[in-house]
Parts: sequence; C-alpha cells; structure tokens
Amino acid sequence: MLILGISGSLRRESSNRRLLLAAGAKLRPETRLRVYTRLGAIPPFDEDRERRPGPAVLGLRSDIARADAVLVSTPEYNGSFPGQLKNALDWISRPLDENPLQRLPVAVVGASSGIFGAVWAQADLRRVLAAIGAVVLDDELPVGHADAAFDARGDLRDPEADQALAALMTTLVATARASATTAATC
Ligand SMILES: Cc1cc2nc3c(=O)[nH]c(=O)nc-3n(C[C@H](O)[C@H](O)[C@H](O)COP(=O)(O)O)c2cc1C
Repeated sequence: MLILGISGSLRRESSNRRLLLAAGAKLRPETRLRVYTRLGAIPPFDEDRERRPGPAVLGLRSDIARADAVLVSTPEYNGSFPGQLKNALDWISRPLDENPLQRLPVAVVGASSGIFGAVWAQADLRRVLAAIGAVVLDDELPVGHADAAFDARGDLRDPEADQALAALMTTLVATARASATTAATC
C-alpha cells in the first residue's frame, strides 16, 4: 500500500514535511509513505489549459492516481491553508472525469509556529478536499509551536500528539483498505 504525503509548505526546513516523515514512521513495513516534492513547480491554474496542463501537474496527477491514500500536512497562512496548495488542488480537480482525488481516502494534519497548530487551515483544507470528491477523514492533528515539536529523531515530543498521529495513520490505512475492497467488488 502506498500513501502519498503532500506538504503545503515549500520551505526547506518545513515542519509540515517533518510531520509527514513522522507519520510515515508510524506505518507497518507493508505500507509506505512517499513524500511529494514538486509542489513549487506547479504553475498558476489556467482553465484554458486544463486539458493540457504540462508535466508538473501531470506528474502530481499520476502520483495521486498511483496512491491508495493521501496525507496532506498544511501550515496556516493568514488563517487558512497556503495558496500554492489550493492552486495544485484546483488543477487536480479538473477535468472532472480525470480527477484522481475522487473517492480517494485523504487525511489532513497540520503544523504551525503558533499555539493552535493550523486548525483553521486544516478545517478549510478538509472542506475543499470534500468538495473535490475525496473521502476526507474526520481526524485532525494540530501541532502547535512547530519549531520545538520534534525531537532529534524526528518524532513528536508530545506523547499524546504522537499517539494521535499513530491512530490517524491506522485509520487512514484501514479506510484505504476498505475502499480498495469496495472498488474490487463493484
Ligand atoms: C504568510 C504567512 C502567514 C502566516 N499566518 C499564520 C497564521 O495565520 N496562523 C498561524 O498559526 N501561523 C501563521 N504563520 C506561521 C506558519 O504557520 C509557520 O511559519 C509554519 O511553521 C510554516 O510551516 P512550515 O514549517 O511547514 O513551513 C504564517 C506564516 C506565513 C509565512
């Protein structure tokens, strides 16, 4: 089973990328998390080009299509999730008949430098992903004070948050398995 991890931050030292890696470390060996690294290459969405979007968008679309589930980790920018992530999701949602997020299990987590851990960004992102047709998990994981949230091994320092991350990954894998079984019997 393959989970695609997408960080909404382009920053080299991104805590959201670290959160994806911490999530990947919770998985059993038969499940793998691959971190998508090309978000910065996605051009501005242009409806005139939605049927010939270019290699960066096609690459993201095929990465999502190959995944059994997606985990998005988002920072909060001015009370919501970053514009570049929204831009990428707009591309992925079109054309409607090629949207690989349709019925795909997706979980959302988030880290921010403030105390609230990107809760508004996560709520907005879950709403947008649902509008695009993804099966969005209700679970959320707000990681506040992100700069100090990880230990030297990359694990979350807060044991409760660490357990919540493990539980969220277990739910995501179970949802992906159930969704694959349903698709196979349809
Ligand atoms: C343009 C901008 C707006 C921000 N607005 C918020 C905000 O509304 N709420 C918040 O908690 N943090 C805000 N922050 C802080 C980010 O959450 C913080 O930089 C976070 O660590 C970024 O995630 P990253 O480490 O994955 O890059 C903002 C940062 C930037 C650059």
